Amino acid sequence: MYVLEYRLGDDGDTIHHRLEKISYIVGSGQHTNSHIINENGYLYQAPVTWYTQEKRWDLAPGFKENNSRFGRWLTDECITCHNHLPEQVPGSMNRFSKMPTGIECERCHGPGKLHVEEKLRGLVVDTAKQADYSIVNPRRLPRDLQMDLCQRCHLQGVAVLNEGKTFFDFKPGMRLSEVLNVYLPRYTDSHEHFIMASQADRLRMSECFKNSPELSCITCHQPHRSVEITPASQYNNACLKCHATNACTEKPELRASKSDNCVACHMPKSGSTDIPHVRITDHRIGLPSQRDKSAMTTTIAPQKKAFLGIQNLTKPNPSPLDMARGYLAMHDKYIASPVMLDSAAFYLSKSKEKPEQLLPVKVHLMFLKQDWEGILAIKFPDGMKLDAWTAYRVGEACMNKGYAESALHYYDLAVQDYPLHLDFLRKKALRYWP
Ligand code: HEC
Ligand code: HEC
Ligand code: HEC
Ligand code: HEC
Ligand code: HEC
Ligand code: HEC
Repeated sequence: MYVLEYRLGDDGDTIHHRLEKISYIVGSGQHTNSHIINENGYLYQAPVTWYTQEKRWDLAPGFKENNSRFGRWLTDECITCHNHLPEQVPGSMNRFSKMPTGIECERCHGPGKLHVEEKLRGLVVDTAKQADYSIVNPRRLPRDLQMDLCQRCHLQGVAVLNEGKTFFDFKPGMRLSEVLNVYLPRYTDSHEHFIMASQADRLRMSECFKNSPELSCITCHQPHRSVEITPASQYNNACLKCHATNACTEKPELRASKSDNCVACHMPKSGSTDIPHVRITDHRIGLPSQRDKSAMTTTIAPQKKAFLGIQNLTKPNPSPLDMARGYLAMHDKYIASPVMLDSAAFYLSKSKEKPEQLLPVKVHLMFLKQDWEGILAIKFPDGMKLDAWTAYRVGEACMNKGYAESALHYYDLAVQDYPLHLDFLRKKALRYWP
């Protein structure tokens, strides 16, 4: 499979021609198939996507707003949700040396080595009687850890890694906030709209979730079996475990007209605000009369009424520093508005962490505000190792203030950590430009 990009000149001749080979396809194929180009191990998303529900090709999600053509990096962040853990070339963002295909057992069951060794030694546990502690069975985890497992991938938002953590570090049974925190922006009308990978967020908004300590994804889903071949009765039986048939106040004849399919009315299908041409299931189980039907049927961007702030969805009590990081990440990845920076500054002023933790966030904020003097005035504690991003940002401050030699020193620090980060390399190269 190939993608051809071409342009015609005024006289109809082809004046631009670029042909790229597709190496991987992602997506279950029920909503979309997106395409990946592999250039010497560097992965890029192809600009076209096949939308299976409408059977049509269109620009890939996000490319209508910002057509980065063949330049959209696929970093470990995307890949570790859409696939099993790859092997990443150290020091790169989007270069991989080994790419498995598909999401493997260990993503939900944890490392299997011990389990296999025990079985080979003939140690078999009767799981009907007791747990087999050599491997994780998600069913046996407490609800919040079950949610953390599924929302490692089914809660897309702005993910902020904890210091020193990577997207490879989460394992089933851990708390997601031990590795990363996920933030979403909230508007006054947020309950009416959702993005595609937000099942965990939506389910949490349901009265069912809030009022029953056991409801989780696997109350309704058996992830070994696709929704394609799961009968509606599996979901409806789940409702009926907690609700009596007569709990529903809708007229019996209307319920009968829908074969009393609870989910058809209480978990309707809808568009999403980030992926065009798809219909997905709203996981906020709710009252039909309280839904804004016009909002739920479109795939266009939400109205975005007043902005309320960002919410941390992985930690009940995020620290001020967590929130400051969240606002900065929101600014970088989603909404580049000064409001985000003001909020980050507010939370930063309230944080009481050690300079080693505070300073990188401070540098980040000053960098976004282009406060170069501010950055240069910072005294880093002796022996503090600057992470690559902080080093790069200090380098930029030096460069902007005309301290080219110091800039080179800081770019070097960034390149040491990420020798294959093309932007860092470019900065370093430009420094040598006459
Ligand atoms: C490693 C990431 C990852 C984890 C962990 C994960 N999922 Fe998924 N899941 C995905 C991706 C990606 C898709 C979408 C496939 C596509 O359409 O591209 C998906 C699809 C699904 C689907 C719909 C597809 C189908 O054919 O049925 C269900 C249901 C689902 N996941 C449930 C779960 C549940 C429940 C858990 C927790 C026990 C879970 N997933 C954990 C990544 C993950
Ligand atoms: C937090 C995990 C996560 C991250 C990060 C993530 N995705 Fe997804 N994405 C998902 C899940 C899960 C679905 C499928 C949800 C469903 O089937 O309802 C999805 C859906 C999609 C879809 C459309 C539906 C389909 O068929 O799979 C595309 C395209 C997509 N993602 C591309 C990307 C790209 C490109 C990136 C990186 C820029 C990315 N995603 C980052 C989890 C993630
Ligand atoms: C997307 C997450 C996910 C993936 C991937 C996954 N599983 Fe599971 N698995 C689960 C969940 C959730 C349960 C509990 C299901 C239940 O009890 O209804 C489970 C249960 C099991 C059980 C039953 C355990 C018991 O004691 O009853 C076995 C065996 C199992 N999985 C093996 C596998 C194997 C082998 C693979 C890879 C081929 C795999 N699983 C991939 C989520 C997953
Ligand atoms: C694990 C138990 C559980 C499951 C499963 C469950 N619910 Fe609920 N649900 C509750 C609880 C508890 C409430 C809170 C109100 C109450 O006590 O009835 C609730 C509330 C509701 C409400 C009122 C919502 C509101 O906003 O006021 C509706 C409608 C509803 N559930 C429908 C469903 C449907 C449809 C399903 C299946 C798709 C389902 N529930 C599955 C426990 C559950
Ligand atoms: C109360 C039952 C229920 C719970 C709980 C539930 N789901 Fe679903 N889910 C459904 C139904 C119903 C569908 C639609 C199935 C169909 O299209 O046939 C669905 C579909 C999906 C799909 C396919 C894409 C889509 O949106 O249509 C994914 C992915 C998914 N669920 C993930 C999850 C995850 C992750 C969780 C936990 C955060 C979860 N679900 C919890 C009932 C549930
Ligand atoms: C034809 C659509 C439809 C079907 C099918 C349906 N419901 Fe309802 N249900 C409604 C409507 C409409 C209401 C009234 C609440 C509202 O929106 O104002 C309601 C109300 C409820 C309530 C809340 C009652 C209260 O306390 O106010 C529950 C719980 C509920 N339904 C559960 C179910 C379950 C479980 C099933 C499947 C066995 C089901 N419903 C099937 C449309 C439906």
